[in-house]
This record gives sequence, C-alpha cells and structure tokens, in this order.
Amino acid sequence: MSTDKTTAAPREQFTGQVGFILSAVGSAVGLGNIWRFPGVAYENGGGAFLVPYLIALLTAGIPILFLDYALGHRFRGGAPQAFRRVKRWLESLGWFQVMICVLIAVYYAAVVAWAASFFVYSFGLDWGDDPEAFFFGEHLQLPKSAGVDTVLTFDFVAAVLIPLVLVWVAVIAVLAAGVVRGVQRANVVFIPLLIVAFTALVVRALTLDGAVDGLNLLFTPNWSALGDPNVWIAAYGQIFFSLSVAFGIMITYASYRRRRSNMSGPGLVVAFSNSGFELLAGLGVFAAIGFLAADAGMAVADLSIAGVGLAFVTFPAIVSEMPAGAFFGALFFGSLVMAGFTSLVSILQVVSAALQEKFALSRRAATIGLGVVLGTVSVLGFSTTTGLILLDTADAFVNNIGIVASAIFMCVFVIWFYRRGPELRYHLNAVSTFQVGRWWYVCVGAIVPVMLIVMLVQYVITRINEPYEGYDTTYLLFAGWGSVALLVVGAIVFTLPRWRGRDEFAAWPPYPVDTVSEQKGAVR
Ligand code: ALA
Repeated sequence: MSTDKTTAAPREQFTGQVGFILSAVGSAVGLGNIWRFPGVAYENGGGAFLVPYLIALLTAGIPILFLDYALGHRFRGGAPQAFRRVKRWLESLGWFQVMICVLIAVYYAAVVAWAASFFVYSFGLDWGDDPEAFFFGEHLQLPKSAGVDTVLTFDFVAAVLIPLVLVWVAVIAVLAAGVVRGVQRANVVFIPLLIVAFTALVVRALTLDGAVDGLNLLFTPNWSALGDPNVWIAAYGQIFFSLSVAFGIMITYASYRRRRSNMSGPGLVVAFSNSGFELLAGLGVFAAIGFLAADAGMAVADLSIAGVGLAFVTFPAIVSEMPAGAFFGALFFGSLVMAGFTSLVSILQVVSAALQEKFALSRRAATIGLGVVLGTVSVLGFSTTTGLILLDTADAFVNNIGIVASAIFMCVFVIWFYRRGPELRYHLNAVSTFQVGRWWYVCVGAIVPVMLIVMLVQYVITRINEPYEGYDTTYLLFAGWGSVALLVVGAIVFTLPRWRGRDEFAAWPPYPVDTVSEQKGAVR
C-alpha cells in the first residue's frame, strides 16, 4: 500500500486538447526531423526512401502510436505502470523503454547543447571559412581514431560542457514544474515559435539560387535501394524515433490526458504534423545545399551530406554565403534547440513518471534525482573529445535494435500473448471521434511484428558481420552491444524491487467483454 503523497494525489492532466497536441507534436518534432531525417533519406535512396518511409508511417508509425495512446490512456501510467496493469511481469517491458529513454537522453542533450552553441556562433559566423575544421576541431576537439583507449580518456571540452550543463538545468526546471506548468507551458511557447521560424527559413531556402538542384538530389529516386533490407530498417527506425513511439513517451503523455478525451483524432494530427515537418526540413535543408553547390560552382552530389555534418558543417557553410546569413543561422540553430529541447523534455518525462510511480517519489525528488545522475553521465560521456563517436554508436544501436525490439515486444506480448488488442481498440473508439477499424489488428498483430522481426534479425546479422562504421570491435562490444545489454540489465534491475506506489486500479470505461463476440480473447 502506498504512503506516498504524489501517487495518492490526483494524476496531473494536460489542460485540454491543444495543450496535449502541442506537447505531443513537441515531442515528435525534434532532432530526428531536422538533424536526422534529411541525412537518413539521402543515404538510403533519396526520393526512393520516401516509399518505405510512408509505408512505415502507415503500417507501423500510426498503429503503434495508437497502441501507445491506448495503453497510456486506459491504464493511466507511465510505461512500467501501464504495462504492469496489462500483466504484472510486463512491468519489465516498461523499464526496457525507460532505459531506451535514459540512453537517448544522455546523448540527445549533447546535440541540443551543440545546437545552442551554434546558435550563439551564428551571430558572428564564428566558424569562419572552414566549418568542418571548426566543428570537428575547435568545437568538438575530436581525435583521429576511435578506440576503447581514446573513449576512456575523460578529456573535457569546455565549449560542449558548459552548454550541456545549462541544457540539463533547464530541462530539469521544466520537468520539476510539472506537466501543466512545465511541460505543457514550454511546448505552448516553443512549438508555435518553432513552426514560424522554421517555415520562414524553408521559404527563404526555396527561393535561393540553385535550390532546385538540391531538391533534385533529395528527390531523385534510387529505386534499387528498395531491394536493400537495411533501407527498410532505416525507414522504420526513423519513423519510430521521429514519432516518439515504442519507447514510452506517448504512453506517458497519453496518461496525462483526461479520461474523457479524444485520442485517435489528435493522434492523426500529431503523426501527419510530424511527417509534414520532416518533409519541410528535407526541402529546406536540400534547397540550401543546392544553393551552396551553385555558389561554389560544384555539383551538389560532390558535397559531403551525411549524418552529423549536415547540420553542423554544411549548414554553417550555407549560412556564411547567404544574404543576412547570421539571421538565418540563428533561425536554423534556434529551431534546432527548440525542437530538440521539447523532445528532450518528453524523453525525460518517461523516466520521471516511472520513478515517481514505482518508488512513490515526489515529482521534485524524481526529477532532481534523475537530473543529477543522468546529467552527470551525459557530461562524462559526451562533453569529452570522443563524445561524437560514442554518440553516433549509441544512436545506431539503441534506435535500430533497442526501439525496434521494444516495438516487437509490445506487439508480441500485449497483442499476441495477452490479447489486449480488442480491449484497447474498444477503448480508443469509446473515447475518440475517429474510429479505429479492424485494420489496426492487422497492423499491430501481423505486419509490424513480422516485418520488424525479419528486419531486426537482418540488422543484427549485418552488425555482426560488418562492424559499425568500421570501428574497433572491442570498442563496439562496449559502446554498441553494451548499450543494448544495458537496456536488458536495467529492465531487470528496476523491475525487481517491490512496487511502492499506488497499486489499486480500475480501467475506464469498463470493457463489455461479454457483449461483443470478437472480444472474447481479451478476457484477463
Ligand atoms: N521524436 C524525437 C525526435 O524526432 C525524439 O527527435
């Protein structure tokens, strides 16, 4: 039985639909849209990538978003609490998702911190004539080789450390203020601002000389890429990361919605806004790349356009050549900070909610505790000279293995084993305007798990045969496979202690299991 003030108090609630939608969009629209998507699309077939991307959105992104919403809203808890209310031992799946958030948060905060530094650098175009040397050299002080030996030298870089500490202080302040006064308020301010700033930037980019060449580069399809399973994995991985599904975020946010709240309608708004923003970012970034190539008298394909470099090397180069560059640089990096920050808030809210609910902690104790621990890990791991390498490795393994595995577990256990599909669909339809049809069972019960299992096996085989980015295998054992092992170990370790928070619970609306024949399988 709980003796706790927090869990005994009524659950915090978003004040209404707009606050919820803005917060969910704020979570979804993040570094994944601006920093990750254009590079991933470019590396995986350009225009052809849009085919697996859209298929992934419709067959997995939206169905899993609905699954997350239904779990969080019906079972009114963060990930461990919600899964525990499906089946006690499934609490461990909730902690697996919390661990994904922990690992993402520690490196995600670092990228937000880089963006904050670049926002400041923009005003004086401080990167000068060689943004590549500036970013990797002066800003990150990256060593030439990546080995276990270099990763373990804690050689701090002040230009990363200071903004990183500030990002952690700011995010903890938001979380400690609560769902309405902290999370919702931050999103209500930042998301409209982000949309205005980013749209202005994209419109400007599209009107630059050479923009069409950049767009052609993004949209010219390399159809042969569709035969490569890794392109499909990249598309599904991108959708999950970008939409913030399958790692606890949308479960947690949905649990703060009033009981009588439309869920599936806002879900569609969030999903399409997120993909719309992603395509907007793709247009803006590639139009700007076209301009850079035209300005330098080069072919667009000859520019280096991949991963981290796209935002922090190529974009500064573009900004230096643009009329009123300092202004547009500040707009770009300011957008990146706002998008990243609101997503970071949501990632950490998953951890905070889980700690509050399981250990009967007050909101303040949970947020300050997690802030100190994760902030320290983040600073130790990512404000050193090898931060970038570690970040890149953790990002690849946690997204392509951790999140994909988590989505598979959700489908296998919640839908296949414990047959909660009909109850969850019933719930969504009882509270929402948009009615979820039986197609949803096909997606979460067949398409998603089967495709993801095949893709995951394929990905793991690839990673075993070809060390990621050619990095040292001992290093990968620790940083890459070690990250995956940490997800499993964390899931077990956090499940073991006694549940100290409130336990009694009745799902609402009651599930009329006897009246609907198709729902027979859902009896507990
Ligand atoms: N959904 C967040 C992003 O796209 C995590 O960055």
